[in-house]
Amino acid sequence: MGILEGRTAIVTGAGRGIGKGIAIRFAAEGANVVVNDLGGATDGTGGSRIADEVVDEIRSAGGSAAPNHDSVATVEGGRNIFRTAIREFGALDILVNNAGILRDRTIFNLEEEDWDAVLDVHLKGHYCCSRPFARYIRETNRAGCRIINFSSVSGLYGNFGQSNYAAAKAGIAGLSRVLALELAKYGCTVNTISPGATTRMTADLRASRGMQVDENAPEQSPNQIAPVCAWLASEAGQDMTAQIIDVMRGWIGIMQQPRVIRKFSKEGMWNNREIDLIMPQLLKAKQDHDAAVDDAAEPTPV
Ligand SMILES: NC(=O)c1ccc[n+]([C@@H]2O[C@H](COP(=O)([O-])OP(=O)(O)OC[C@H]3O[C@@H](n4cnc5c(N)ncnc54)[C@H](O)[C@@H]3O)[C@@H](O)[C@H]2O)c1
Repeated sequence: MGILEGRTAIVTGAGRGIGKGIAIRFAAEGANVVVNDLGGATDGTGGSRIADEVVDEIRSAGGSAAPNHDSVATVEGGRNIFRTAIREFGALDILVNNAGILRDRTIFNLEEEDWDAVLDVHLKGHYCCSRPFARYIRETNRAGCRIINFSSVSGLYGNFGQSNYAAAKAGIAGLSRVLALELAKYGCTVNTISPGATTRMTADLRASRGMQVDENAPEQSPNQIAPVCAWLASEAGQDMTAQIIDVMRGWIGIMQQPRVIRKFSKEGMWNNREIDLIMPQLLKAKQDHDAAVDDAAEPTPV
């Protein structure tokens, strides 16, 4: 028996790449899966019915799946995706907000439409799909639900030429922390994945950096994200919430999240001389902290 037996999941952007791997894995673990995908180009333009192919693949392997072709970027699209789960399977337990596009430009060339398109699919897309699910959890008191969101090192660390994408991905980390708080009383966990894999989204970037491009190499495979998502979505994941899980290059890691790491105090207002003294110490404390975290994050073989 699979770890998701009898559960129903929506996976957005599941027509290819990381999302497809998650949909297939969830179905193999016994879940009914709504395979959502608009089927557009990497920049979000166009559309096709690639979700149907993934559904066919799942069904031929004996799994249970239904397609949906709506965009996550509209409130109506989010509602239709949710309704597909209820119509086809009568319930919903798991939402994986994975759909994504890219429109990389530096700020000098970043037009409003490129800003809006990327924010709409990623950050607003998470809102559009999460809201109907959250309201359903509250209305039905459904226990043990799961939301898995998709951020990126681009938003969590910063990446040249991706201010729109990074803003959306950092926003998703913030949104996830709040959803984890708001849904905790219903036993719904909300976690964020920071993935790394070779897909059409990253193949050109990897090649331009002189990196090897091979989707079938295990440490580059988009399928390496799926087992971690399945675990988070399963009963075993019930105590893990509000975390950012780093899954790439064959590693599973956990990210640090914002905390104050050093502070000074005094009574009254700070003067320039005191701030002059304190700022280098704060910077040094931060550099030491980062170095210690980097040391601790060297992969441990299992
Ligand atoms: N591949 C990586 O290394 C990497 C790194 C960091 C973050 N991510 C994130 O992981 C997620 C999956 O990325 P991927 O690499 O598999 O990309 P991908 O391009 O292979 O797949 C993304 C899928 O989302 C679909 N999609 C786009 N807009 C949509 C919309 N409005 N509604 C529904 N579906 C839509 C696309 O059609 C596509 O099939 C994305 O959120 C991405 O930002 C990926």
